[in-house]
Amino acid sequence: VSDWTKVGLLNESLKDQLVLLRGRAQAIRAVGKKMAFLVVRESGFTVQCLAQVQPDVVSPQMVKYATALSRESIVDVEGVVSVPSAPIKGATQQVEILVKKLYSVNKAVPTLPIIVEDAARSEIEIEKAHQAGEQLVRVNQDTRLNFRVLDLRTPANQGIFRIQSQIGNIFRQFLLSEDFVEIHTPKLIAGSSEGGSAVFRLDYKGQPACLAQSPQLHKQMSICGDFGRVFEIGPVFRAEDSYTHRHLCEFTGLDVEMEIKSHYSEVMDIVDRLFVAMFDSLNKNCQKELEAVGRQYPFEPLKYLRQTLRLTFEEGIQMLKDAGIVVDPLGDLNTESERKLGQLVLEKYSTEFYILHRYPLAVRPFYTMPCYDNPAYSNSFDVFIRGEEIISGAQRVHVPEFLEKRAEACGIDVKTISTYIDSFRYGAPPHGGFGVGLERVVMLFCGLNNIRKTSLYPRDPLRIAP
Ligand code: 4AD
Repeated sequence: VSDWTKVGLLNESLKDQLVLLRGRAQAIRAVGKKMAFLVVRESGFTVQCLAQVQPDVVSPQMVKYATALSRESIVDVEGVVSVPSAPIKGATQQVEILVKKLYSVNKAVPTLPIIVEDAARSEIEIEKAHQAGEQLVRVNQDTRLNFRVLDLRTPANQGIFRIQSQIGNIFRQFLLSEDFVEIHTPKLIAGSSEGGSAVFRLDYKGQPACLAQSPQLHKQMSICGDFGRVFEIGPVFRAEDSYTHRHLCEFTGLDVEMEIKSHYSEVMDIVDRLFVAMFDSLNKNCQKELEAVGRQYPFEPLKYLRQTLRLTFEEGIQMLKDAGIVVDPLGDLNTESERKLGQLVLEKYSTEFYILHRYPLAVRPFYTMPCYDNPAYSNSFDVFIRGEEIISGAQRVHVPEFLEKRAEACGIDVKTISTYIDSFRYGAPPHGGFGVGLERVVMLFCGLNNIRKTSLYPRDPLRIAP
């Protein structure tokens, strides 16, 4: 045979056919000297292969060769598909391959820092095994991240990063279909784009510079450059001192900026339609991936409405107050009150995805437009999944004199952003936009407990490798 068959596509309809597979030897087990079982894995799917001594087809040497393979080596298997009468444990595909030929394409070292099968166990499986007196290894997060290429091979991780890829894809397709232009803004910039201290500073040929904390300034400038509607998918750098489950020092930002005609609700309308389309598409097209994630990290499907709930900040804090939680009416919500509000919203409105808007101006970045009717509030919003923030957005100040005043009031050195402010002096339309944290969307859609699980090679205050 010359055609390759994907392990994930093996099924009973191929019974008695000769197939050729390439994968990894996930597990190898000898039964006496005449039989060896090999579990071959490809992209998270596994199939059991049986090499059994058979005159003129499989020699005892070949069985010995199979038994001596190291786990995770790349192998080619040619064999016949058979359908066993009993279910196969320890493999995703319910057919078996009767091996005719076996080649080792490239060997892995004999001792691995992570056994992929162990790394793929759910907490429930580990607990059950412990109760039964079996000692299953629990692979801790640091080990997983230190040897990420091995850890990435688990079915759950294969699912997570395929879901992540799909989210980027839906984001791009949706916005292109709505007449947005994809842009690429510089990541080396002269001054902080979000204010605050979480900035990686560097020397740019003798000039002070920093890594962009967001495409904020340049995406707005692109609106001044007449693109009307823009989006970007790119890296975002935050010199966070936060050692939390949801902060990284580098993450992928999905950013949007658009002209608005009369109200910042036009921006929230895009959020609404984009995310409902995204969730629908993930549920429809990523079932296998979602199941793979759920087998290791069980979670309930996200509850969301056809039209996304919008609450004002004042309504939100009133709900908290009614539940006995008092928060500063002009301050920000902390993680705990955001979670609590998420629970209250779920109970009252049956959704785990909602928009909270009209935030107090004092807790928003300098470029945020105050509300016309009450400048203590702003034309801004955050969006939550399961009580945690995934998006922040707003209408922006487009009047240069006022923008300069706001930057100064927020303690920003206006000189470092002078070209940004100048862009508004040549005529700027009213506009607004939002920024989404890709890793957070994946984490919260899949109900995962740590953002490091959804970052391919996470960067946090303690980690810059691998
Ligand atoms: O809330 P942030 O800082 O807002 C901005 O960057 C604005 N420029 C967006 C705008 O257009 N107005 O970041 C946006 C999103 C957050 O909602 C969160 O999902 C994610 O980026 N995020 C982080 N993700 C991982 N690690 C961090 N340290 C993050 N900080 C923000």
